[in-house]
Order: sequence, then structure tokens, then C-alpha cells
Amino acid sequence: MIKVSNLSKQYVERAAIDNISFEVESGEIVGFLGPNGAGKTTTLRMLTGYIPPTSGNASIGGHDVFSESIKARQKIGYMPENVPLYDDMRVREYLRFRAELKGLRGQEARQGVSEAIDLCGLKQIRRQMISSLSKGYRQRVGLADALVNNPELLILDEPTNGLDPNQIRRFRELIKQLGIRHTILISTHILSEVEMTCNRVIILNEGKIIANDKPKDLSRELRSANTISIEVKIPTETAQNLINAIPGIKKVTKEHQVEEWSHLTIRTEPGNDVRESIVHLANAQGWPLREIRTQYATLEDAFVEITQANTSNS
Ligand SMILES: Nc1ncnc2c1ncn2[C@@H]1O[C@H](COP(=O)(O)OP(=O)(O)OP(=O)(O)O)[C@@H](O)[C@H]1O
Ligand SMILES: [Mg+2]
Repeated sequence: MIKVSNLSKQYVERAAIDNISFEVESGEIVGFLGPNGAGKTTTLRMLTGYIPPTSGNASIGGHDVFSESIKARQKIGYMPENVPLYDDMRVREYLRFRAELKGLRGQEARQGVSEAIDLCGLKQIRRQMISSLSKGYRQRVGLADALVNNPELLILDEPTNGLDPNQIRRFRELIKQLGIRHTILISTHILSEVEMTCNRVIILNEGKIIANDKPKDLSRELRSANTISIEVKIPTETAQNLINAIPGIKKVTKEHQVEEWSHLTIRTEPGNDVRESIVHLANAQGWPLREIRTQYATLEDAFVEITQANTSNS
């Protein structure tokens, strides 16, 4: 659905995008991540034909975004970073106007608008002036705009920016639902959202792609995956000494003590699962053990580690 080859964007003083290539298959939901200034918006604006690349090319559904920009754009619903809306229009009127701009007429336009209103939960406010909407509702109108012509591909640039936690959760459900019928490329800083909705993550840093993988595979590789928490009912020092003697253990740290229960964090060498040895030890010593848990790295851990390792001056 999306094919990007050797795409670069040079602004006067710097390269914003430096020779990136990636593909997005039909039906995928791909998270497009990266620190501030990484070049996400720049890439999405090139894909949607708003700015020209300095070199390289990009196509949507086989249509080059520049030489066949009209055909490429017909396939895209784009929600830009700062949704520009007409303040002096009412919600439904605005969406109708946008549908017509996108070439829909009559019944087709009415249906597009009414479906987008339903999907984005705008029914109650469809007659309200856009100038009177809260930030979250403006975002929803922006999304409804992207959806109004039922495009194959949705390109969403930080769509949850400014939404409250309830709305973010609702939005996540909406993305999952939309993912059944649409291909989605979504840029966001809310990584829990990506973890729950995206099949794949592309991480951009300083204009280059530094990761392109499933969210699970990105976090699995991290060192923090080799961290175990336990809670045992014995003095911390005794537990620390004996656990430290198990092969493959790097460090045993006391987290806290609640009454007689010691809560310890155990770091191990990569690839070493010591949970069984710990249970054996507890049994042999007769320690009451009420919790043993592997701490998995989150996508946020992966993001921080990967972007920091690939940043030139920090
Ligand atoms: N019109 C422009 N002229 C010059 N430089 C620009 C222009 N637009 C963006 N840049 C620069 O290009 C780089 C990438 O910006 P971009 O907006 O694509 O980042 P981003 O990944 O979307 O960041 P954020 O997470 O903050 O939205 C930044 O260094 C930015 O300052
Ligand atoms: Mg941006």
C-alpha cells in the first residue's frame, strides 16, 4: 500500500529525512514513532503530497505521490498534526464541505458524513459551531474528516494529542475497529497505544529509520527482559546472599520490605531464565515465596534505549 524508497528531505540548514526506505502492506496498522524533531511529520507530509521530497520516491497503492498525486491522494485519509478546521462552520456542515471537496456527491456524501459522525462519536455535537468545540472534539472532527470518503489508507499524525485518558482509550478501540477495513500509519508518542494496536513499529531518529519490527520483538531484545521480581518471607540479606550464588545472576536488589516480606529485584545475564533455580532454592530452604514474576520490557523501554543509543550528541 505504501512504498518509500531512498526518500530524503533537505531543509535549508539541515537534512530532516535522510534516505529512508520502508513499506506498509495492505491491512497493516503501523506505528510511526520517534523523538521530537525526528522527521515524522516531514515524512507524512511527503507521503500525502503536501511537500516534495529532495530525492527518492514514494507511492501509495502503486501511484507515485508526486507524478500521480491526485490518484495517490484519493486513497488517503490524512489527519495532520494540527488539524486546520473552519471555525465558523458547524460540524456536520464542515464534514459535508470536506466530503464534496474530496469528490463525493449527493447520497454518497451524506452517507460518508453520517458514517464518519457515528464512528467518531460526533452525533451529539453535529450541529455545534466548530469554534465552540473542546480540543478533544476538534481532534475527533479531524479524524472524521480523514474518514469521510472511506479511504483505503489512513495517515494520522499524533491523533491523540490533547485527548483525555478516556478519549485515548476510546480512540484506541476506534483504531482497532478501523484497522479491520483500513491500512493505518499512525504517528504518536503514546506507546501503550502502539503496543496494543499496531502490528509493526517504525522508529525514526534524526531523519533515519533505526528500527522496523513488531512491538513485541523490539522490547523482547532488551536487557530489562532479564529482570525478575520476587517476594519472600525471610530477612533480605539472607535471601540476597543465597540467590547471588545461583549461576547467571548479575545483581539482587532490595526494593522494599513489608512486615516480614522482602521484595527483591533480580537481574540476570541475558538469556538466562533463573526462575526455576529460585523456586528450587526457596523450597530447599523452606522460604515462603508468594510471588515470582518476570518483568517484561515495555515498548517505552525499547524506545528510550534504541533512540538514545542512536542519537549523535546526547
Ligand atoms: N518548514 C521547515 N523548514 C525548516 N526545517 C523544518 C521545517 N519543518 C520541519 N523542519 C525541521 O525538520 C526536522 C523534523 O521535523 P518534523 O516536524 O518532521 O519532526 P517530528 O518527528 O514530526 O517531531 P514532533 O514529534 O515534534 O512532531 C526538525 O528538525 C524540524 O525543525
Ligand atoms: Mg510531528
